[in-house]
Amino acid sequence: MPVPGQLNPSPRVLLGPGPSDVHPRVLTAMATPLLGHLDPEFLDLLGMVQAGVTLGAVGQAFQPDEKRVRLESLTYGRATRNCPVLNHATSCGLALREPHAASGRINTTMTTPQFPTARPRRLRHNPLLRQMVRETALAPDDFILPLFVRPGRGVRNEIASMPGNYQLSVDTLVDEVGAAAELGIRAFILFGIPSRKDATGAVACEDEGIVQQALRALRSAFKDGVLLITDECFCEYTEHGHCGVLSEYGRRRDVDNDATLPLLAAQCVSHAKAGADMVAPSGMLDGMVGAIRRGLDEAGFAWLPIMSYAAKYASAFYGPFRDAAESPPQFGDRGGYQMDPANGDEALREVALDVGEGADLIMVKPALAYLDVIRRVKDRFGLPVAAYNVSGEFAMVKAAAARGWIDERRITLEILTGIKRAGADVILTYHARDAARWLR
Ligand code: PBG
Repeated sequence: MPVPGQLNPSPRVLLGPGPSDVHPRVLTAMATPLLGHLDPEFLDLLGMVQAGVTLGAVGQAFQPDEKRVRLESLTYGRATRNCPVLNHATSCGLALREPHAASGRINTTMTTPQFPTARPRRLRHNPLLRQMVRETALAPDDFILPLFVRPGRGVRNEIASMPGNYQLSVDTLVDEVGAAAELGIRAFILFGIPSRKDATGAVACEDEGIVQQALRALRSAFKDGVLLITDECFCEYTEHGHCGVLSEYGRRRDVDNDATLPLLAAQCVSHAKAGADMVAPSGMLDGMVGAIRRGLDEAGFAWLPIMSYAAKYASAFYGPFRDAAESPPQFGDRGGYQMDPANGDEALREVALDVGEGADLIMVKPALAYLDVIRRVKDRFGLPVAAYNVSGEFAMVKAAAARGWIDERRITLEILTGIKRAGADVILTYHARDAARWLR
């Protein structure tokens, strides 16, 4: 019985006139080195091409019904990406659209058995079997725990809207990292709350800055047992609370992109010297990854990776963080540098730029309202993807749990699993300690 949408395996259906803008031999020659990587059904297609049918004709043969869509997902999702034939197919009129199902893992052309032959519940009855076939597994080493450090000694100020998270001084920070490491958390991202702020955030680049002090203390306490990442931005260090130095643009004041880049590079180099294992620029400035890469390379840190906040949205979910880091903008908002939450394609352009400038990991932030972006970035670039499960997302769970409205443990693990299933390899999350405990 033909399955709806299945590619008809008979080549004859494809024979017929059609626009021919590439000679079949050319296509075949382009495809030959790739044959080993293509799936059998695509080989059929190539067979047709060899038989003298152009891809244009193939495209025509399949329109205008769902078979055309089938062919698109077949070529996009299952054949190798970057295949010149496929790229050429686009221009030959196959009209490949956005590769929705391009993960390439699901064999959609396979004949799917129907009920009662198929009974998906067979894999669900037995909890051990259910566990065995589970696709996504969380572990403490998926997490990066954000921590806030400020001057002083013995400081442990709980952040009202982020229960269980504190502003810490260097000494209590060392204790906190030690306790988290006991739970299996090995990666930390540090945010600094400086003793003074000014117009340019100069203290952020000083070797005696608060983050630099914290890095040295943590490095000497834990050696290579922890991964120390630093958030690279100026909003905590400027008196106006924006992510760089300001300029006037007509009637508007906004961050001066190019004037901020050298400062950002200097901040990163200073953190690298103090012992950071990775830098994470979060200011959404154009060219920031390239500027930092050059700065690090020139300072002898060519080996030091960059995790770029590549697709960071101007989000209301950062509310609690701005209290924690004492960094809210004193006028306006961050819409002049962070992305418009309505945009998805733009995220791919942002990521492409950062990858081109040398980003090693790419971040999408926030996570929950942007799971589609995480998935698209993962599919498109195949690089390690980080997702930031931000302060507002955390606060909502804590607030509802405190009222007894939700099951905090199940909700938290479900959220983190969902972020990972969407395509994140690592998750920055304030739930890290709780989750690590629950995962034991
Ligand atoms: C900027 C920065 C912010 C967050 C991480 N880095 C705040 C902002 O852009 O306003 C937000 C993180 C969170 O909400 O948990 N330095």
